[in-house]
Order: sequence, then C-alpha cells, then structure tokens
Amino acid sequence: MHPENMHLFHGNILYARSRHELAVYENSYIAVEDGVVEGIYETLPEPMLSLPVRDFGEGVIIPAFSDLHVHAPQYPQRGLAMDCLLYDWLNDYTFPLEAKYKDPEFARAVYDAFTNDLVANGTFHACIFGTIHPEATGYLLETLEKKGLSAYVGKVNMDKASPAYLCEKTADSLQETEAFLEKYAGNKTARPLLTPRFAPTCSKELLAGLGRLAAKYEVGVQTHIVESKWEASQALLDFPDASSDMGIYEKAGLLEHGPVVAAHFIFPTEEDIRLLKKYNGYAVQCPDATVNVIAGIMRNSFLATQGVRLALGSDIAGGHSIGIYTQAARAIQLSKLKWFYEPEGNNPIGFPEAFHMATRQGGELFGRVGAFEKGYRFDALVIDGVEDSFLTLTPEQKIERFFYAGTKDNIVAGYLGGEPVSLQ
Ligand code: GUN
Ligand code: FE
Repeated sequence: MHPENMHLFHGNILYARSRHELAVYENSYIAVEDGVVEGIYETLPEPMLSLPVRDFGEGVIIPAFSDLHVHAPQYPQRGLAMDCLLYDWLNDYTFPLEAKYKDPEFARAVYDAFTNDLVANGTFHACIFGTIHPEATGYLLETLEKKGLSAYVGKVNMDKASPAYLCEKTADSLQETEAFLEKYAGNKTARPLLTPRFAPTCSKELLAGLGRLAAKYEVGVQTHIVESKWEASQALLDFPDASSDMGIYEKAGLLEHGPVVAAHFIFPTEEDIRLLKKYNGYAVQCPDATVNVIAGIMRNSFLATQGVRLALGSDIAGGHSIGIYTQAARAIQLSKLKWFYEPEGNNPIGFPEAFHMATRQGGELFGRVGAFEKGYRFDALVIDGVEDSFLTLTPEQKIERFFYAGTKDNIVAGYLGGEPVSLQ
C-alpha cells in the first residue's frame, strides 16, 4: 500500500459479486490506488486515516455501465420509425441515415454528441458499430480513445442486399477494413473489432476475407445473431453450407481470434448456443430494440443456466434510450412477460441479475472493470437524488429505482481509472 497514491471515496458501495449476489457496503470507504481498487473498508485502517476523503454521503457508488451493442451513427434516429419492423426500418430509415456518414463533418458532429451522451448516462465501456465509412468510423474511435473510454469500434462491412449508396465492393470492403485494423492496432483503450453487419448483407467471400484478417490481426467480431425470425431464416438461405447463424461465422474463421459479441441472440438453435459458448462469446440483450423493431424476447434466464455470458446493449437506434440502466429495468420487465406467456424454462430475472448484466458481465469484455474487487479499475458512478421523503431506501433500492425511474441527472459523479469524468 502506498498512501501517497491513494484516494478514498465514501458512501454506500454496491457491486455484483456474481449473477445472483450483490456486494453491499453501507456507509463505507473504497480505497483507490493508481486508479485501481485497493479495498473496501467499513472502518479505515490506521495508515489511511490522514488521507483525504471524497464524501458522497447517502449516494451509492456503483461500477460504470457497459453497453455491448450500440450503433453510434443511428444516434440522430432514436425514437423514430418505431412502428416499423427490422427489414423496413433498415431499408427506409437506417440505411439512408448511415449513408450520410460519407460526409466527415456530419459524422464528427454526431459522434461528438453521441460520445458525450454515452458518458453522461454512465456508459464508460462500449462495443460500437460505425458505418461502412473508414474516415467517420476512425473519428469515432479516436474520440473514444482520447477520452480514455474502453471501447471496441467496428467499421461495418456490407457488400450485398443493400442499397447501392451503402453497398461496398467486396475487395474495397476488405482493403479498407485492413487499413482500419492497421491504423488502430496500437490503441490503448478504444480498439477495432470486425463488424460484418449481419449475414443477409455479407457475401461468403467477404466473410472469408474477414476471417483471414481476424487471424492476421488477432481481432474478434461483433454482429447481429438470430435477431429476428426473418434474419435467422434469411441467413441460412444465403449460406446453405452452414447449419446455424453462428456456424456461418465459425466457418469463416471469425470466432477464434478475439472477443465474440452476438447482438440479440433471440432465436438461437442448440448449435448457436454451443458455438457461442465454445468461443466464450457474449449474448447481448437489447430490450428496447426487441420491442421496437425486432419483436422477440431473449430467453435470458434459460441462456444463463446454459452457461452463456449475458450482457446488455442499448442498440441505439433500434433501441431509443442510451442509458444502460433503462435497459436493465426493461430486461426484468421482458423476462416476466416471457415467463408469463412461455413459463417453461423462462424464470423471470430480478434486480441482481440485471445489475450483473449491466456492470460486471458486460465489463468483463473490456478487462478488469465492472466490479470493485481488488485490482479492478475504478470506473465508477455515484447515484443520488432518487429518494423522496416517504420511504427510506436501502442502497439496492436506490439503484433499482434509478434503473426504473431515474435519469442521467441522478448520476452525480463519474470516475474513469480513478479520475473524475465530466458528465456534461
Ligand atoms: N440488423 C442489421 N443491421 C441492424 C441494425 O442496424 N440494427 C439492428 N437492431 N439490427 C440490425
Ligand atoms: Fe443492432
């Protein structure tokens, strides 16, 4: 212990110990050394007594959120065209918007606003889709890196079944992706990830080429997997050699060289589940998107019992809310609906499981973030102002209320690697 490098924070401290167990320390101190958690103390040991304390009183100190599926370019579209289903929503609204990112000036303005809103809502770690445009997507990645946020960012690949204004030539798509991987290979916190949009808009040659890049640059993949009945069946029509959506990416060699992030995972076959587990992938539930443009509910408790790692995504702008705390509440609500209509194997989840998805499990993708055990980076939020004068709330209840009824104004402070973050 080197007290000269140490900072103390006081308040109610809460993090997920495991999927079902929360660690709660009321009226306690968290000691942070060189940006990393050293320990949590109800009573300070003698050598720490003289250290300065940042006191958050009745506030609750929790790990910052992780969003494992979000489309930065769709930020201007949130809350629009929500009466469509996926195919029309993509073709009539999303693709025309994404085409605008050919213009770097437009991209810079949106990506600055997006990044600021992400941070203001307490998401300090994110797995993000850009567009097919390398310059715009590069700006997004550089902005996240400059802020020290943990991120994976993908230049999207799509070379078929897309409108001409947003459809790449296979060779250009591969060459531009390789240049993107090379350019950002040395990044510290915001790193590239391969991002084939989804099977229906990718040729076999494109995926095979991306598989070669995955091996050469040791990178992983993010994509949409069995997100709708239409997508799941279209994928198998397009790739008749594969017997599952995940199998398409395995055959292309895309699952072996880095993180595997499967957005939605609503209609998985046994093989999809087996392959996601085999490659230690994440199934990302995006609850708002599910009821806006996709129409299906992830079997989250079933998947958890199968040993699948579950995280949350805002899926802006299939989802309309950027705060992962809103998605945590929605995940609980949807699990109850799923159980109500299909009780078999679909037990509802509770607050601890949703909190775990939003913090610890999602954070695992980025390293030691998302919890407050010794050695975890102190990426933290302070939540306050959710209590009224009628009831006294426990720390868990304060965060539960924040998930359901809070806003970004309840995030009164944020720390990234122990340093204060501007939440403007
Ligand atoms: N499938 C292919 N593209 C998209 C997208 O942009 N959003 C969602 N939610 N699903 C997709
Ligand atoms: Fe998506």
